[in-house]
Amino acid sequence: MNDVERLKREAGISACDFIRDGMKLGLGTGSTVRYTVIEIGRRISEEGLNVVGVPTSEATRELAEKVGIPLISLAESGGLDLVIDGADEFDNDFSLIKGGGGALTREKIVAQSSKSMVVVADDRKQVEVLGEFDLPVEVLPFEWKRTRDRISSCCSGSVSIRGDSKPFVTDNGCYILDCNFGPSISDPISLEHELLSIAGVVEVGLFVGICDAVVLASNGGVLTLINDSGRLNE
Ligand code: 5RP
Repeated sequence: MNDVERLKREAGISACDFIRDGMKLGLGTGSTVRYTVIEIGRRISEEGLNVVGVPTSEATRELAEKVGIPLISLAESGGLDLVIDGADEFDNDFSLIKGGGGALTREKIVAQSSKSMVVVADDRKQVEVLGEFDLPVEVLPFEWKRTRDRISSCCSGSVSIRGDSKPFVTDNGCYILDCNFGPSISDPISLEHELLSIAGVVEVGLFVGICDAVVLASNGGVLTLINDSGRLNE
């Protein structure tokens, strides 16, 4: 296991400290939270942990089923206690860029349906200003080039469709446009609103005012950063 993979594993497993018996959990998507999902499965089978999960992607559904996490739909849950998910970037205000794995829309729906959100990350994801990582935007396939051109008018860098020879298709049957803003997203709320106002945009990978804590792994150890204005402080 290389260094980055070790840090992902440490963050993913440490985040399980937030889980309590009886919780209804949102299960995020990606290579870091994968370790969380596997650990939840282990605690269920070996320690009798009693939780249910709502997956944020088909990939996570498959993994959760494999490790034995009982799954329910968001509607059945009536609301979640906690979602644990990864991020591509987070800043000092706990604003996030997500969607590197293409699951941003389901991830945002699940996060907005949860009482709290904990992000798992290694220290490569911590930034001063968001945008070094290309911002993923999920769009309808219908006339996507027009949507891309509209997005380009508010993005100083390139806007590229994800996928090499053919577009990557999300679990929702949509495409992802990766938008290169550079580290310039100092007002993520305004940008989110501007992009959402473009017809054809399904969801934007900016998560603002949602993340309550980041479990951050670095070579120096694992640190839990708590958002002072977050819901874990209430
Ligand atoms: C998927 C996501 C992921 O959580 C994000 O891309 C981080 O993934 P990883 O832990 O593999 O770096 O938003 O849509």
